[in-house]
Amino acid sequence: MTTVDIAFLLNGRPVSLSVEPRLLLSDALRHHLGMTSTHVGCEQGVCGVCTILLDGAPARSCLMLAVMADGRSVTTAEGLSDPLAEQLRDSFQEHHALQCGFCTPAMLLTAHCLLSAHPEAGESQIREALSGNLCRCTGYQFIIDAVSSLTERGGEGDASHG
Ligand code: FES
Ligand code: FES
Repeated sequence: MTTVDIAFLLNGRPVSLSVEPRLLLSDALRHHLGMTSTHVGCEQGVCGVCTILLDGAPARSCLMLAVMADGRSVTTAEGLSDPLAEQLRDSFQEHHALQCGFCTPAMLLTAHCLLSAHPEAGESQIREALSGNLCRCTGYQFIIDAVSSLTERGGEGDASHG
């Protein structure tokens, strides 16, 4: 079996491993590195539950080979530990923004990326940012409310909406 040595930053810490060239990044994260918040659903790039941050931007880990992470920075929900991440987790809880929780790590990563870059985001921007993350349970409004409450608008509407 041919393997390739790769090394990258995972949640701020250097990791290295030998992988088969065909190994998906989602499987490497879950099965080789213990990052089980990285869920796997459709495996076709549709549902978004496998979302990670690659060099700070949301990416579908089911559409990437592990070797493509070589030399990059990967963040999973386990690595969200700053005050904004704490606020997001609390807000999701307060707004009942999760039920089964299957989509939640990816939602948190996507929302964290959005609010880090755009703390003034309005509802339409939040909806657009989260549109690649499917949720089977919540109907989305509670998730939108949870994220909106942390913006500089504080969930008080969206002048750009409509
Ligand atoms: S499992 Fe990756 S997008 Fe659905
Ligand atoms: S909370 Fe169940 S899929 Fe979103």
